[in-house]
Amino acid sequence: MKKLFFTLLSFLPLSLFAQNATIKIDVNRKISDIDPKIYGVFMEPIHFNGRRMGLPDSVDFNTLYGNLYDPSSPLADADGFRKDYIDAMKELKITNMRWPGGNFLMGYDWKDGIGPKDQRPTRINLAWGGIDNNHVGTDEWMKLNKSIGSENILAVNLGLGTILDAAYLVEYCNYKGGTYYSDLRAKNGHPQPYGVKIWDLGNEVDGLPWELGHKTAENYVETAREAAKAMIAVDPTIKFVGSGSSYYSGDWLHWNRTVLNGIGDKISYLSIHRYWEGGSPDNYYAYMGDGAMDFDNKIKTVANQIEIAETKNNFKHPIYLSVDEWGAFARSFMSVLPIAQCLNSFIRHADVVKMANFTMLTSLLSSDPKNGTFKSPVFYTFKAFSNNCLGASVDTYVACDTFGTAQFRGIPYLDVTTVYSKETNTVFFNVINRNKDKAIATDIESNGSNFSGKAEASIINSDDLKAPFAYDKRNQYVPVTKDVKTSADKLSFTFPPHSFTQIKVSINKK
Ligand code: AHR
Repeated sequence: MKKLFFTLLSFLPLSLFAQNATIKIDVNRKISDIDPKIYGVFMEPIHFNGRRMGLPDSVDFNTLYGNLYDPSSPLADADGFRKDYIDAMKELKITNMRWPGGNFLMGYDWKDGIGPKDQRPTRINLAWGGIDNNHVGTDEWMKLNKSIGSENILAVNLGLGTILDAAYLVEYCNYKGGTYYSDLRAKNGHPQPYGVKIWDLGNEVDGLPWELGHKTAENYVETAREAAKAMIAVDPTIKFVGSGSSYYSGDWLHWNRTVLNGIGDKISYLSIHRYWEGGSPDNYYAYMGDGAMDFDNKIKTVANQIEIAETKNNFKHPIYLSVDEWGAFARSFMSVLPIAQCLNSFIRHADVVKMANFTMLTSLLSSDPKNGTFKSPVFYTFKAFSNNCLGASVDTYVACDTFGTAQFRGIPYLDVTTVYSKETNTVFFNVINRNKDKAIATDIESNGSNFSGKAEASIINSDDLKAPFAYDKRNQYVPVTKDVKTSADKLSFTFPPHSFTQIKVSINKK
C-alpha cells in the first residue's frame, strides 16, 4: 500500500506541492552593461480600418493622425502632438524613437513630408490603407523626439524607394548647409543639422507576403550595400541597422546569414522583429511558456549567427542586435507578464541586445473613448525597467520548479534578471512568477556582498487576467510596494501567482 502511495505520488506534478525557489547572485559576475537604448519606442502611422480587417465599421483609427498627432486636441502642444503622450514618454525615460516605420516606410516618399503643411500632398497609405495628409514628416518627427528628450532612429525606404532618395534624406538631416537639401532644411526653419546617428536600411525586407518592395536576401544585400555607400558619402559618421528576420515561416536563418555575410562590414546592428506569439491567452501556460522560450531563443539564435559571421568574415567592428519592433498586445493583464519577460530577455542578453523599440509609442498608455489616456500595468511595468534597470546585467542563478508545453520542456516558473548599479550600490531583481495559481516562496542570496538595511518590493499583478484595462480602475494599477527584511547576505520574498515584482535593495561588498 505504502509502495502504491509513493508510486502514485511520483506521477503527480511537482507543482502541486513545493513552490519554493532559490536565487543566487554575485554582483561581480557581470554579463554586460545594459545599453539605455533598449528603452526605445517605435512609431508609424497605421490606419486600422474595420471594414478592411473584417471588423465593424466603428473600428477606424490611425495610430498617429488624430491620435498622437492631433492639433485640434486641447492636449496638443504647439507642434500638434499630444502632451499626455509626451509626458508619459518622459516619465518612462524613453531613450530613442524609431520612425517613420514599419511597413509604412516602404511605400513612403520622405519628400512628401517637408515644407509648408498646406502644400504637402495627400497620399494613400500604401501599407495600411486610408489617406495621410503628410502633416507629420521629417521635421515634425524630429520635434517630437526633442520634446520627449529621445534620440532619432531614422529608417530609409529600401522597398519602393530609391537609393538616391535615401542619400538625399541623409543630406536633408545631417549636412551642414550649402547644398540643395541642407538649404531646404534651413528654409523649412531648421538651419542646424539634426545629426541623426543611427539609420535603418529598410524595414522587414524579408516580409514577402506583406512588405512593399520585398526583396530576396541576395537582392537586399545588393541594395543595402549601395545605399550604405551613398549615405556614407554624405555623412561618414553614421551607423547602420541591417534588416534582419521578421518572417519566421520561411528559411529565416538563410536571410540573416546572407545579410550578415553580405553587409556585415557595413552594419553596426542587425534587427530582429518579434511579437509575442505562440499559444493563446485561453491556454495560459502555452501562452506564457511558448512565447517566452520563442522570444529568448530568437535572440540567442541570431546572436549565434552574428558570432559565426564575425568569425568567418573578421569584421573590424562588433555587430549588435536591435530588437527594433517587439510587443504583446492583449489589452489586459495577459500582456503584462510577456512585456516584462521580453525586457528580462534584453537584460539577460545585454552583451548582444544593444537597442530595442517597443511597438508602438501610443501602446504604452491605455485609452478610454470618453476619458482619454491612462496608465495601465503595461506602463508601470515598462517604467520599472526603464527607470531602474541601468547599469550592469548580472548573471543570475535560479533554482525553481518548471513546467512544460506541447513545444517546450523545463520552463522555470520564475523568470529572473538582476541589475547592479555600481554608482548607487543598488541591486534590482526583476522577478516574473509565471505560475498561474501558486505563490513561490523564494530565498535570495548574494555571494560576495551583503544586503544592507531593508529592501523594497514593487508588485504588479491582477486577480483578473483577461479583463480589459479600464479607466475607472486606473488607481488600482499603481504597483503595490512592500518592505522586505534583509539579513546579511540573504532576503526572502514570496512572489504572488502570475505577477511581476521588482525588488530594490542596497548592497555592501564584503
Ligand atoms: O507594428 C506593425 C507592423 O508590424 C510594422 O509596420 C511592421 O514592421 C511589422 O510587421
